[in-house]
Amino acid sequence: MTGQKIDGITVANSVKELVRASVSELKKDGVEPCLATILIGDDPASASYVTSKQKDCAEVGIITKDHRLPQEFSQMELDSLIDLLNNDKTVHGILVQLPLPKQLDEFSTTTRISPIKDVDGLTPYNVGLLASGRAILKPCTPSGIMELFDYYGIDLSGKNVVIINRSNLVGKPLYHLMLEKNATVTTCHSKTKNLKDLCLGADIVVTAVGNRAKFTLTADMIREGAVVIDVGTSRVNGKLAGDADYDGIIKKASYATPVPGGVGPMTRAMLLRNTVTAASISKGFATNR
Ligand code: GUN
Repeated sequence: MTGQKIDGITVANSVKELVRASVSELKKDGVEPCLATILIGDDPASASYVTSKQKDCAEVGIITKDHRLPQEFSQMELDSLIDLLNNDKTVHGILVQLPLPKQLDEFSTTTRISPIKDVDGLTPYNVGLLASGRAILKPCTPSGIMELFDYYGIDLSGKNVVIINRSNLVGKPLYHLMLEKNATVTTCHSKTKNLKDLCLGADIVVTAVGNRAKFTLTADMIREGAVVIDVGTSRVNGKLAGDADYDGIIKKASYATPVPGGVGPMTRAMLLRNTVTAASISKGFATNR
């Protein structure tokens, strides 16, 4: 059996089309959707992610406000900037690029963002809504993965799912979203025993380790016909690679995402959708009822 490639670029483009239409509608109502990005420090990878996010916004008509700050920026200065953006009516979404330099606290920083401008879905309020199945602003990577299942008609009900990641950005929110769709979800991490056995028992494996030197998901770790979603990114010989040995996996899986061109474009597209949703919330257009 050779599986089908899940083409994240195509699905992301269809999400972007819808976002573009929503942006036009909002503009007719006098709302100019705007995302403020905050990047602290000089990490080249983070800088390039933020630049890509801004380019994506421009493509669909979302305004961006770029805040690039020095490595030694203090927590007090960052808190003041977030307060300023929280109170700025022309700003609908606030994204603080992670990870932060070590003098800054990730939890207190994300917690300070107004929940209605929290396009990463990381504030305790939005995390709580997600756990209750009532979220409006959901973390971008997990909601992008859910869009992929939807687009390819992959039903989660009753499926055994293994997620190899327990982060606040990926593993934990994805657990809730998949549970909501009636999957039986097992969250795995660096201390999990018998990872291979758990993967072999799974209908769907989502891997987000991002350290190819330490971990590779290989074909012998999945069952025939499994769905493999690869969120990991590492550099192998200077080239971008996922967690999975895609060429081996696709011979055994029913569906698999490549890296690049799988989950990555979806994460970016969902940020655009969240920004438009946040702009709609500002007008009282979006609810979780
Ligand atoms: N760093 C890596 N992924 C993300 C993300 O989805 N959001 C933010 N804010 N930072 C990140």
